[in-house]
Amino acid sequence: MIIDYQLTPSVYEPTLCNTLSRTAQAKGTSVKVHLDVDTGMNRGGIWYTEAVDFLKWLTSLDGIEIEGVFTHFATADQPDKSHVHLQLERFKSVLSNLSELNLRPPIVHAANSAAALTLSDSHFDTVRVGLSLYGVYPSSEVRRASPVSLRPALSWKARLICLRQSMQGEGVSYGRTYIVDKPTWLATLPVGYADGYSRALSNRGEALIGRQSVNRSERFAWMGPSFGLHRRKGNRQISPYASAMRETWRLPSIRLQKRREPSRMRF
Ligand SMILES: Cc1ncc(COP(=O)(O)O)c(C=O)c1O
Repeated sequence: MIIDYQLTPSVYEPTLCNTLSRTAQAKGTSVKVHLDVDTGMNRGGIWYTEAVDFLKWLTSLDGIEIEGVFTHFATADQPDKSHVHLQLERFKSVLSNLSELNLRPPIVHAANSAAALTLSDSHFDTVRVGLSLYGVYPSSEVRRASPVSLRPALSWKARLICLRQSMQGEGVSYGRTYIVDKPTWLATLPVGYADGYSRALSNRGEALIGRQSVNRSERFAWMGPSFGLHRRKGNRQISPYASAMRETWRLPSIRLQKRREPSRMRF
């Protein structure tokens, strides 16, 4: 699948590399790979002292094009920078050894959101930002130190499917967790956890109608006339991602689907 879809995997163990090499050759093509170097995350990757030998071996495999080399930081969002500096030094030592052998791949990368925002020395050729694309800072420390103010790179909009007045004392939707305390307009948006909208945001979410914020969402029914679930208007910004992070410490992952079904976001 990696080869058929022309994906670029990260690699650090021989079995996958051998399989990729064999399969690419059998299909008369080549596959680009990025070598994952473990400099102290201890989650995956080739340990940094073995990275140069591993990369030398990779160059001997037909059908493999070593496009990149990278590492990943464990603590870039924390106030104590000692471990991230240690990781960076280890990574740089690998890079300088590769340069001496004329083996440095064209794309070098290391920075996650926190490092991209606060550690310019780690930017190399590209950065791998995740969290910050949602407009969410990795930590309050990073928010304080960041030279830029984040805006979400995406918006989430929904059409109003039902608008009605409700009477005082009526409960709304599952569990009746929201009880109308005065005559109120109730609006329903077709958005729920199947779409990636966290259940933890019941009665806590917000939506924007024009510039006006509407809150008190009840389970999956929203209150208010028409909505942007994740938008920026002037200075006003709301984000189901930031709210979900506050409530659950989880963000939706984006699941890509074949055929014509739309992408779904899931928690
Ligand atoms: C290898 C790798 N690179 C980059 C990122 C992005 O990190 P962040 O969301 O902190 O920007 C992640 C997040 O899990 C990751 O695992």
